Formats: sequence, C-alpha cells, structure tokens
Amino acid sequence: ANERKFFVGGNWKLNGDRQSIDGIIQFLNAGPLDENTEVVVSPPAIYLDYVKSKLGASVATSAQNCYKLSKGAFTGENSAAMAKDVGATWVILGHSERRHVFGETDELIGEKVKHVLSEGLGVIACIGEKLEEREANQTNDVVFRQTKSIAANISDWSRVVLAYEPVWAIGTGKTATPDQAQQVHKDLREWLAQNVSAEVAKACRIIYGGSVSAGNCRELATKGDVDGFLVGGASLKPDFVQIINARK
Ligand code: G3P
Repeated sequence: ANERKFFVGGNWKLNGDRQSIDGIIQFLNAGPLDENTEVVVSPPAIYLDYVKSKLGASVATSAQNCYKLSKGAFTGENSAAMAKDVGATWVILGHSERRHVFGETDELIGEKVKHVLSEGLGVIACIGEKLEEREANQTNDVVFRQTKSIAANISDWSRVVLAYEPVWAIGTGKTATPDQAQQVHKDLREWLAQNVSAEVAKACRIIYGGSVSAGNCRELATKGDVDGFLVGGASLKPDFVQIINARK
C-alpha cells in the first residue's frame, strides 16, 4: 500500500454527441464510484462545458489537448485558459495520437506542459513506446527520453500524473500484461527518484493506458506501481464504472 490516490481518467477521444454523452453522464452520476479513486473524464473540447454542467461534483473534467499559448491568432486551437473557464481542471498532453497522428514533438509537448501548469491546471502527461521500439529493447530509452522533456518543464509535480501508454496497446485489445506494465512503471519511478527527487518518485501517480477493460483492470490494479488508468474505448461504456472501482 502507498499514499498515492488511485486515478482513473476516461479519454473519449473524438467520440460522442449530446445524446451519447447524456448516457455516459447518466452511468457516471449513478455510480456508485469508489471514493478512493480520483475520476476525470476528457470529452472533446466542444463538449467540455456541457459535460461539466451535467456531471456530479465528484468527477472532474479534462481537455484532451490545448495550445501552448493562451490566446491569439491560432485558428482551430483551444487554450488551457478556456478549458479552465468552463470548469476543467486537467489537460491531457503528449497523447500518442497527438505525437504520431499530429506530429507533436517532445519539445512542443514540453512547452505545453509548462504553459498548462502556469495556467493553474493539472497535466496528464502521456508517454509510451511503439511496437518496433519495444521489440528492439528500446522501451526504457523512449519513455525516459519523453519523460525527460516533460520533467524539464514541471514546476509543480503535485499537479502532474504520468500516463504510460504503450502505443501497441492503444485501441488494439492487446493490453500490456500486468507484469509488463509494472516493470515500466517501476523503472519510471526509479528514473524520477534519480532525476527529480525521492519525494516526487514516491508521490507521483503513474497510470497505465492501453486496452484497459472491465475484464483486465482488477489484476492490473494489484500491481504496486500501477496507480490508476487512462481509459479510451471502455470509458464510453458503463464498464468504466467497474474500472473506476477496480480496487474496491
Ligand atoms: O488515452 C487512452 C488510450 O489511448 C487508450 O485507449 O481505447 O486502448 O483504452 P484504449
């Protein structure tokens, strides 16, 4: 046991309309949700305000991304300040789809981390290796490199959650085994101890993402360095409540 509060985020990605969102809000408000789990949902930006206005107070909201500046001539972007204005308290940054579909670099993600923290929001910072990198035994090289450019921009670690999402496990139904997840989380915690501080290593939540389901969440949650989940597909379904309650 440790003092890190279990953290479960639902990343809706580019999914949902008002009708389906009403259904999600209904099962979340019905719960019951483990009080020992911090719960955050991340709808598309267009729905952040709507979702926040309908959700019970025990579930926080997060943007899925934002720009590195708060306003200006940046057509199509959203800012952390805007997310905050409609009640969001977190922003997901560095998600694998931002990195690999939209070409975001470690450098840009670092700038965004710095900006979001300066706006007073929390950051769910995502890292993870591709299949070919894992097969070439480069998992730690990749996740340490990604974590390094995130860490260099962190002023307040109490508002940061690290999400380890191996790219090969995202949306594939191929979950990392509990041992695979535990190994990387443990190595990341050691990296934090050596490169940031022992206190941060002890307190920082490191959550796992990649095909988490109602069926596999309980075993993953038994692992000592797995402090929660970032859930994609299953966060759109009532199964999400079971994942929130994985330690109950
Ligand atoms: O951010 C969560 C995500 O990338 C995992 O997606 O659908 O595999 O749970 P999924």
